[in-house]
Amino acid sequence: APDISVDAVQKDLKELQSVAEANGGNRAHGEPGFKASIDFLKKKLDDAGFKTEVQEFDHGGATGYNLVADWPGGGSADETVMVGSHLDSVGSGAGINDNGSGSAGVLETALAVSAEKLEPKKHLRFAWWGAEEQGLVGSQHYVDSLSQDEVKNISAYLNFDMIGSPNAGYFVYDDDAAVQKVFTDWFKSKDIKTETSAEVGGRSDHASFAAAGVTVGGTFTGAGDTMTEEQAKQWDGQAGEPYDKCYHSECDDVSNINEKALDLNSDAIAHAVWELSS
Ligand code: PHE
Ligand code: CA
Ligand code: ZN
Ligand code: ZN
Ligand code: ZN
Repeated sequence: APDISVDAVQKDLKELQSVAEANGGNRAHGEPGFKASIDFLKKKLDDAGFKTEVQEFDHGGATGYNLVADWPGGGSADETVMVGSHLDSVGSGAGINDNGSGSAGVLETALAVSAEKLEPKKHLRFAWWGAEEQGLVGSQHYVDSLSQDEVKNISAYLNFDMIGSPNAGYFVYDDDAAVQKVFTDWFKSKDIKTETSAEVGGRSDHASFAAAGVTVGGTFTGAGDTMTEEQAKQWDGQAGEPYDKCYHSECDDVSNINEKALDLNSDAIAHAVWELSS
């Protein structure tokens, strides 16, 4: 897999920050900053040759949007690897770590697929969800829109929600042992020890897929929970401090990012996509 440029990921985060600033300070469901975020990503994916679709849904009296991007190269859709991130923020801020980080890491991986004109054995589909912060609403709406066959055709769904937490932990979802190993082996090769996280559970969009019987996985750098002494030693972090002190706060802006964690996790996304789709 290619090395994803962390500078490119950071540039996307700056653009998402600008989108928030131009739209009242957030990118939340039902607010103009969310739709502007969808439009920003869609343009990049269209220009890169993806077949994109915006799926609309209603929630809480507002229109929500999911952006789905299919890569036309490679295998047929009866074996599909899906990669997704929620693109909405909470109302209190720009949502750069939660979840500009995952959204940008997935975007740059998709753009790398295009740059390499990848022809994987499996079909690749990327997605950016709306209204995650309202209770996984967009991803659940998407899963509900699939037929039973379409659900069965998803060989794996990979989820990335918060991958640049300033006091970063290196967590890998433990839902599926084989997918988990793809990530843990990769981090091991970079001399990073990973852990599972009690904080993950069903708290992000992978849960919508897992509940439908889809194999899921992903990575996470931690939210509001506190880093332990052991973890701080292992990951060169701050013991007794939250992984993300700006979680769901106004200060979740471009300064709220650990660039090393963002870089490693973005590269890990690309690695997993290449490995699981080949
Ligand atoms: N889904 C949570 C949020 O967006 C954060 C989270 C991410 C929790 C990943 C668990 C795993 O606020
Ligand atoms: Ca990189
Ligand atoms: Zn609803
Ligand atoms: Zn959140
Ligand atoms: Zn989130």
